Amino acid sequence: MKRSEINRAIEEAAQFFDRRSFALPEFALWTPEDWDKTGSEADEIRDCMLGWDVTDFGSGAFACIGRTLFTLRNGLHDDPHYPKVYAEKIIYNPEGQRAPLHFHRSKMEDIVNRGGGNILIALWQAGPDNQPSDEEFSVSVSGLRRKVAPGETVRLESGDSICLPPRIIHQFWGEEGTGPSMSGEVSSVCDDRSDNYFLESCERFPGIEEDQPPLRVLCHEYPASQ
Ligand SMILES: [Fe+2]
Repeated sequence: MKRSEINRAIEEAAQFFDRRSFALPEFALWTPEDWDKTGSEADEIRDCMLGWDVTDFGSGAFACIGRTLFTLRNGLHDDPHYPKVYAEKIIYNPEGQRAPLHFHRSKMEDIVNRGGGNILIALWQAGPDNQPSDEEFSVSVSGLRRKVAPGETVRLESGDSICLPPRIIHQFWGEEGTGPSMSGEVSSVCDDRSDNYFLESCERFPGIEEDQPPLRVLCHEYPASQ
């Protein structure tokens, strides 16, 4: 995807979070020049891939398939330096933009509508072949257990949340006509390099065409500490 799309997406998300009074840590504003001067005190940010994460999953159609998010905290499996067992993200959801259909092999996550428009989330249980099964199943929505038919769409209004155990196939997006929203993700440790099972081939961290200078550094681009 193009660097200009990434710059624009971060600016839009940061403005939305600001308007909704969701404050980000200071390093959300660091420029590439700031990162070049930063030492090992920021190793947790680099190693746990905290910070901005913008992707079109290789779709070339960012407005339809894409994600702009900021990882606030995370741990690292099998690294005693980072024993944290939980993670938190904040995701900006423009109307209609989706991540590809996926499930997590081991991560359990709560998706929380933290304000703005509604969030729709389509759900299936993954079968033994890792494809959507035709079985009914149940999920917890804001603490209330409810049955879900395969492919059913659950609506999360502001303040609602849904708990997704591993192997629940999901895809969520901002409901058209209700405005952009932000969703929190509260989860067990997130390993975006190996825990995601996408039902169609896609690139979690696609190559970037440098059509303008970067305003921020993405979570997978940090330079080594100085
Ligand atoms: Fe997910």
